[in-house]
Amino acid sequence: MYRLIKPIFFKFDPEKVHYFVVKRLKWFHEHFPLGKTILRSSFDIHIRGLEREVFGIKFRNPVGLAAGFDKNGEYVEALSDLGFGFIEVGTVTPLPQPGNDLPRMFRLPDDEALINRMGFNNKGVDILAERLRVLKAKDNSIVVGGNIGKNKNTPNEEAVNDYVKCFDRLFDVVDYFVVNVSSPNTPGLRALQEKEPLTLLLNTLQERNHKNGISRPILLKIAPDLSNEQLDDIVDIVKVTGIAGVIATNTTIDRSGLYTAPELSAETGGLSGKPLTQRSTEVIRYLSEKSNRAFPIIGVGGIHSPQDAKDKIEAGASLVQLYTGFIYEGPGIVKRICKELIR
Ligand SMILES: Cc1cc2nc3c(=O)[nH]c(=O)nc-3n(C[C@H](O)[C@H](O)[C@H](O)COP(=O)(O)O)c2cc1C
Repeated sequence: MYRLIKPIFFKFDPEKVHYFVVKRLKWFHEHFPLGKTILRSSFDIHIRGLEREVFGIKFRNPVGLAAGFDKNGEYVEALSDLGFGFIEVGTVTPLPQPGNDLPRMFRLPDDEALINRMGFNNKGVDILAERLRVLKAKDNSIVVGGNIGKNKNTPNEEAVNDYVKCFDRLFDVVDYFVVNVSSPNTPGLRALQEKEPLTLLLNTLQERNHKNGISRPILLKIAPDLSNEQLDDIVDIVKVTGIAGVIATNTTIDRSGLYTAPELSAETGGLSGKPLTQRSTEVIRYLSEKSNRAFPIIGVGGIHSPQDAKDKIEAGASLVQLYTGFIYEGPGIVKRICKELIR
């Protein structure tokens, strides 16, 4: 079915198609008679053997939706019907911001990839927090991760305050946090991946990480473009700060080995999808081996098939996420991965 629709979708601007599809999905979930049931019976899968407990959270299956797809937490329930074991919302910033000028998302069909330079377009943390509060009051069974960042206009020296604001505001309504310092689309953000500022940022969040006897797992999302020395630093930082784990990886700024013509592949932004598959798996393996599996890793980057997901799990990932593979393969990919993992 998706094979028939995809060529039509791919004729239009990717960002427009994104909103067109998710809005209809939400409408179908909420208003179409038996919509929820139809979605769940088509895409969802419930098998005991897929359940995982990672950093103290029970996941019904290990396949999640990566950050950036539902930045404002508007479609969590409908997306959960598509079979995802968890949904990561955001990246959210303290204040709403429009992101970069359009167009800012590009398909590279020859490489089964995307380039995006969205620039953390989002409605701000207050709106997200309120939406998740309503969701959690209604249905607390969906595991939701809150991916947090800083506003474009906040200088790096004050970035900690932005992360703290998002952290405090979302504490009661998310199951885990992701500190995003790896997006290539906010100028200077990735400098926060350096040892000193990153340790300060994570320690500050850890100090606040308790309320009424509860603390939330904090994960760090890293870029695939880090050197082995930088990855060694990441392993140290995770141990020193005591955060729960790492998400590897975000999009890449590397453009090597692409089939796509340079006019398109040279667009500024982060590259995701198939060209990232191998590098992100390498990063997972390196972190896992260097740390002696001391902390859980969520593997993300170029998962387009069940085998890609298995490779990441074999490399050391406890859970996986996808975004670009979902666009290229369609919603059936989640169930296909889950079935293969069971086998
Ligand atoms: C259009 C788009 C927007 C994204 N926005 C975010 C974001 O806001 N925060 C974030 O941490 N990652 C973001 N990502 C990165 C994805 O979460 C994921 O790490 C990356 O795309 C690699 O996975 P994939 O190859 O399955 O897409 C975005 C990716 C895409 C394609």
